[in-house]
Amino acid sequence: MCGIVGYIGSRNAARVIVDGLQKLEYRGYDSFGVATNNPRIEVFKRKGKISEMGSDAWSLHGTIGIGHTRWATHGEPSDRNAHPHLDCRGRIAVVHNGIIENYAALTRELRERGHEFRSETDTEVVAHLVEEFYDGSDLRTAVEKTVARLEGSFALLVTVEGLEEVIAVRDSSPLVLGIGDREVFAASDVTPLLGYTERVVYLEDGDLATLDREGWRVYSHGHPVRRRVEHVDWDVETVKKGGFPHFMLKEIYEEPRVFHDTLHGFAASSLPERYRHPPEITVVACGSSYHAGLVFKYLCESTCRIPVRAELGSEFKYFTPPLKGIVTVITQSGETADTLAALKKARAYNCPTLAITNVLGSTVTRIADHTLYMRAGPEISVAATKSFVAQLAVLMRLIDLMRGNDRLLTALEQANTVIGEVLLLDIDRAVEICRPAEHLFYVGRGLFYPIALEGALKMKEISYIHAEGYAAGELKHGPFALLSDQTPVVALCPPGDTYSIMLSNIKEMKARKAPIIGIGASGDRELTDIVDVFLPIPESPELVQLVATSVVLQQLAYRTAVALECDVDQPRNLAKSVTVE
Ligand code: AGP
Repeated sequence: MCGIVGYIGSRNAARVIVDGLQKLEYRGYDSFGVATNNPRIEVFKRKGKISEMGSDAWSLHGTIGIGHTRWATHGEPSDRNAHPHLDCRGRIAVVHNGIIENYAALTRELRERGHEFRSETDTEVVAHLVEEFYDGSDLRTAVEKTVARLEGSFALLVTVEGLEEVIAVRDSSPLVLGIGDREVFAASDVTPLLGYTERVVYLEDGDLATLDREGWRVYSHGHPVRRRVEHVDWDVETVKKGGFPHFMLKEIYEEPRVFHDTLHGFAASSLPERYRHPPEITVVACGSSYHAGLVFKYLCESTCRIPVRAELGSEFKYFTPPLKGIVTVITQSGETADTLAALKKARAYNCPTLAITNVLGSTVTRIADHTLYMRAGPEISVAATKSFVAQLAVLMRLIDLMRGNDRLLTALEQANTVIGEVLLLDIDRAVEICRPAEHLFYVGRGLFYPIALEGALKMKEISYIHAEGYAAGELKHGPFALLSDQTPVVALCPPGDTYSIMLSNIKEMKARKAPIIGIGASGDRELTDIVDVFLPIPESPELVQLVATSVVLQQLAYRTAVALECDVDQPRNLAKSVTVE
């Protein structure tokens, strides 16, 4: 969602900020803007793409500035609603990530006091409040008083004409500082900092940081506090396309390594004792992460015989489940608002909490009692690919850690080779079937049911084809009415317990003339004979087939979206991390 970059140093601030905003493009946005402080406030903001208009902002002068990518929540995407927003006299500039819930009441109050508003956003109220409180020299106090009036979630950057200072505030929206040599950065996440500095400070909720020519200081409730400088080892190359046409394809090609590295990234001691024999596990997550959680449920219940409940983060707060045992949240970004809300609820129930995430220092790591990290590196494409297989690797390994053995690690030993092999599959005919379709079904059973859900999610989010994931047995309870020669079905039919019944289901769908793309074990003659297109997965253990099938479905979505000329990495209306509930 919205992204923030701030800078104070000796470089051209607008260039640094535009470069940083470009690295935040992956979060999803519809407009962008930059304000520099030179010492007058200069602003450039536009609806549209940074790649097309970002360099126009380079003409702004100064070595201090703030910038923003906006994902519209209050007010349409437009030049006027783009950040930064200014006070009445254009002396105070503000960028904001999050939602100011009481903005309407504050706006009314400030209008009555004579303030003129220019946008429909919830953010502009912040600039006018700072204007109310600013005495001409003490910006920190003015921002503290402003924040005291705000309800909601926010990360803010504020700068004022004539003062060589940027104030950064974090409250329930992520914000990090980048510490360079005589320069300081502020950003929504570490990606804009890559290439400039590896030293970062993760601000905590309630922190206010001052960035000036002397350096940086952090305050909490008005008092100076210490915050640790941490080292980030992500490489700047990982946020570049490296010759691939899209980040999504690059990230799919990283999967053999990511799966292997994540799987082998845990020692037996990675899981504290109290997580090993819980009476029950509740997994909470959203989107693809939820699908990974469902795989865990199937696997853990059948191997560890521990009851596992998988819940959607967005629903979790609307009921009060009887929680006992541990609560595990899965979130690539570590910033998904619904998942964080669920985590806080679990803590309120005094449940031990475990987070699975990809991002060091992300909010989830600060709230959960214990964190297991995926080793996927930064994922830029909005569609989760390498992070999904990394989640599977962590969750499969988690089962080993709980059982105190290496059984799944051993079974998955050749997974990276098999993933590498399926990357080379010829899927042209499958793409030809999907491309003209308006509706698609993805079906699977058992462990492959969540994989069907994930395949359908991937297809719809990047190709805009309506795709439904179903437990294969459920089709007959309604969706069968939709089957025709116009509704292709992607059927997951691996060897094992569900094979025969899947085969029968596929024949039933075939009898309704649905074109079938079948995915199963290489050499499966029976399946090959009944489907329209067969995509073979090299012979391997079931869990390897599961991961490899996910990768094939990601490629099918990718190739179909490319054929339909969709914006693969930044699908319309979507954001990489959903930081509002
Ligand atoms: C998947 O391709 C998505 N873009 C989306 O469903 C994502 O998995 C979801 O928003 C959860 O994100 P998180 O893992 O960062 O919490």
